[in-house]
Amino acid sequence: MENVIEIRNLTKYYGSFFWKKPTPALDNLTLDIPMGAVFGFLGPNGAGKTTTIKLLMDLIKPSGGEASILRCAPENVEIKKQIGFLPDEPVFSSYLSANEFLNICAKLLGIPSSERKGRIAEVLKIVKMTKHAKSKLGGFSRGMVQRIGIAQAIINRPKLLILDEPLVGLDPHGRQEFKDIILQQKASGTSVFFCSHILSDVETICDYLGILNEGKLLCAGKLDDLLQNTGLSLHIQPGHDEIAKKLLSDASETVKLPDGGWNLIFANKKEVKQTLLGIKERHKDVVTMIPAKENLEKFFFRKIADATKTN
Ligand SMILES: Nc1ncnc2c1ncn2[C@@H]1O[C@H](COP(=O)(O)OP(=O)(O)O)[C@@H](O)[C@H]1O
Ligand SMILES: [Mg+2]
Repeated sequence: MENVIEIRNLTKYYGSFFWKKPTPALDNLTLDIPMGAVFGFLGPNGAGKTTTIKLLMDLIKPSGGEASILRCAPENVEIKKQIGFLPDEPVFSSYLSANEFLNICAKLLGIPSSERKGRIAEVLKIVKMTKHAKSKLGGFSRGMVQRIGIAQAIINRPKLLILDEPLVGLDPHGRQEFKDIILQQKASGTSVFFCSHILSDVETICDYLGILNEGKLLCAGKLDDLLQNTGLSLHIQPGHDEIAKKLLSDASETVKLPDGGWNLIFANKKEVKQTLLGIKERHKDVVTMIPAKENLEKFFFRKIADATKTN
């Protein structure tokens, strides 16, 4: 599969202090993002997500390594026309109306004047801001500014969307609408790279995921693969506490259900699996076993905790 973004050993140091060895904001990042993917780049504050995006957008220069976007170097100006970009905390001129602002964006992106009006109407509709087209940006709430930010990012019908914390400032309803926009963009063939620290939102829209912590990539891959096989989940029907009790000490998580049944989660270890398969065989009618999928939140905090331990 072709990659929309390829990053090799990308490293960034901000300045350096003679009394202190500088630590890199981004440390040797190597990452491939397949064409057509919605890639969620997760990490706590200060992890280096914005730094990565700034390097991809050629807003800052790397200290080492390289990146390519749509097979071009980040400094390639022409390629910008095929990219939509929403920066972290965008600030737009408060004296411009939404229409005027989007017209300037469209002009800068080289969209011919005959098409601009139509495109502006199209994106305002997508972000549900049509009725505010003539209002000045200065009077907009954080969420409305974010919507206009998304509108300018998709006005060129980009091949790749790069979004830095796009969900910040949106209320739950706005977030849902934003997720729909992302999925709509994906359906029309756009690849999406976005970073966020809001986990639950990422889980529902991205198909690929990377976790960054203190400048280092902890893991990356298909969300399904990352979350899969983290364990085994055993369900025991009500009235069979004796089976559950035998297993409680081996389980990593035990839940007694309101109906009296049990859900037990086990680490995916060979010995444990053998025991569980034996139990399942002996109690076919009351025990079911399925692969347990960790939710993204648990996965994320486990990865960060592991990384902190090894430091
Ligand atoms: N312009 C800058 N000058 C010096 N340090 C910076 C600058 N921008 C970011 N940093 C530092 O680089 C690290 C990564 O920051 P950033 O990429 O903004 O993280 P994130 O977006 O994941 O929150 C942080 O420690 C931050 O303080
Ligand atoms: Mg950031």
